[in-house]
Amino acid sequence: MEARRILVAGSGGIAAYKLPEVVRALVQAGHDVRCALTPEATRFVSPLVLQALTQSPVRHALFDPSEESQIDHISLADWAELVVVAPATANVLAKLAHGLADDLVTAVLLATRARILVAPAMNVNMWEHPATRENVERLRGRGVAFAGPEAGELACGWVGQGRMAEPLDIAAAAELELGAESLAGARVVVTAAGTREAIDDVRSLTNRSSGRMGFEIAGEAARRGAEVVLVAGPTPLSTPAGVERLDVESALEMRDAVLREAETAQIIVKAAAVADFRPAAAVHGKIKKENLAPDTGMTLELVRNPDILAELCASKGDRVVVGFAAESEELIPAAQRKLARKGCDLIVANDVSRADAGFDVDTNAVSFVWPGGEVEELPLLSKRDVASRLLDRIEALRAKRRAGSGEGRV
Ligand code: C5P
Repeated sequence: MEARRILVAGSGGIAAYKLPEVVRALVQAGHDVRCALTPEATRFVSPLVLQALTQSPVRHALFDPSEESQIDHISLADWAELVVVAPATANVLAKLAHGLADDLVTAVLLATRARILVAPAMNVNMWEHPATRENVERLRGRGVAFAGPEAGELACGWVGQGRMAEPLDIAAAAELELGAESLAGARVVVTAAGTREAIDDVRSLTNRSSGRMGFEIAGEAARRGAEVVLVAGPTPLSTPAGVERLDVESALEMRDAVLREAETAQIIVKAAAVADFRPAAAVHGKIKKENLAPDTGMTLELVRNPDILAELCASKGDRVVVGFAAESEELIPAAQRKLARKGCDLIVANDVSRADAGFDVDTNAVSFVWPGGEVEELPLLSKRDVASRLLDRIEALRAKRRAGSGEGRV
């Protein structure tokens, strides 16, 4: 494998004790690895160990009289092709999100043009704090990659999301960040978020889909070198790096955009929560309650929206078309019926009755439901990791087709 230049930067969390394992995995894979630490990180991991593993000096001061002339923080930032921050504390994420640079690690992060992969590790309440959520969102929008955090027992005694991803998973995520552009040349259309169906010019019918799952898929496909069009319903999420975004509101607008864009696409992933019904006639202006009878309710007549996914599948050709199924009960049988009815290659079944999956959270618990009835249940993962597993399957399906070895589960 080609050696790549990876800077592993550690900040001050207990998980820093696992840093040598991350470094060792990357060195063993043949990469040229250097390390930088925040001053706090040196309390949890010995620079000497990292120096021995990388056979390079380990910097931990922003201005080091003995090193600055040879490898100042700017040349370290320029040298790296990828910066892996492990562990990334809430503090480092906040500094990176806001452009602060008051130690060696954050100065390098601000100065580098390299890709950045962070492996957060912190107390669950810190991870879930609105400030951290905003920072994570901001960083994701800028194309910063995340490995973990995972759910489980935390060093602080709490149980929840906040454990640093396992060192081998961080190393694998690093490979992926640097990886071959496995979807180069492919055009991918992803839909995301709920649609908004107008009742009048002020009110609408919509649903709780945040769009995160689809945004992660679009970002991941772009990182793999695909040309990505993201057809998004209303959502405040920022567009992932390298993705062309088309904003739509209603199911009918989404249908027009998707059918147009799908013509030249090879892969279509429909993660949007399309409204099944829309008001029969949207009223111009605002419906006034004075115009309605005083003591009666109001009846809204709804008509069916077209099923975009079924329509796409009807002229699928050799495209790979993936649908989502969000269900609160009888998940797998419903997803199997949906797959058969719509005729897509794969359905991602999503249990939206769980608090840690589905709407408005960073994690998801999904199963891949294949034609023929096979079901592959995935553990609770970040939406980013679900996106990555899904694209792995899509790539494998394309490879299987190219080899002429049929359809079905890969
Ligand atoms: O039928 P249901 O809404 O449960 O199916 C979900 C899947 O179908 C999702 O992939 C969604 O994007 C797609 N869908 C669609 N058009 C609709 C309704 C759903 O493309 N009108």
